[in-house]
Amino acid sequence: MNLRDYIRDIPDFPKQGILFFDITPLMADPKAFRHTIDTMADRFRSVGATKIMAAEARGFIFGAPLAYTMGIGFVPVRKPGKLPYKTRSVSYELEYGTDTLSMHEDAIAPGEKVLLIDDLLATGGTAGGLVQLAREARAEVVGMGFLVELSFLDGPGKMQSIGISYDALLSL
Ligand code: PRP
Ligand code: MG
Repeated sequence: MNLRDYIRDIPDFPKQGILFFDITPLMADPKAFRHTIDTMADRFRSVGATKIMAAEARGFIFGAPLAYTMGIGFVPVRKPGKLPYKTRSVSYELEYGTDTLSMHEDAIAPGEKVLLIDDLLATGGTAGGLVQLAREARAEVVGMGFLVELSFLDGPGKMQSIGISYDALLSL
């Protein structure tokens, strides 16, 4: 099954000159969605993760069913002000400005093995934020997975510079 067939290209969204890769057809197709989660599970089953960390919103779409399939826990990483208990937060650079991600401070135990999941690696800002959060929680990042990586942007180089190897089902 070629997952690329289930990703729709939308030119000039959200602004002029940007080509947006729309993953909603993949999510709407039961075979493609199942194939995505099962393929990720096969790739990461051997890394020994006990938790998956994923960032809202699109990271949840893949991270939660993957955690269910692998039989491990799920840790939601959220935008500020959404989590009710004590949180740790990191801010990271965007093209214009900064963004912040938060997690509950007791969600990961020190030394715990975590797998980081998101739908897309673009500039690597979000992925870098997830790595920073995991490291501040003194977790061991044992893997990182994406549905899609954009190989023409800075994300792959950024992941290399912070010492994280990752796996993407599709490279565009
Ligand atoms: C999108 C996507 C990734 C991120 C990738 O999330 O889901 O998380 O951008 O881009 P980056 O590598 O440049 O950080 P977005 O922040 O648009 O929010 P969403 O997941 O809530 O749609
Ligand atoms: Mg996202």
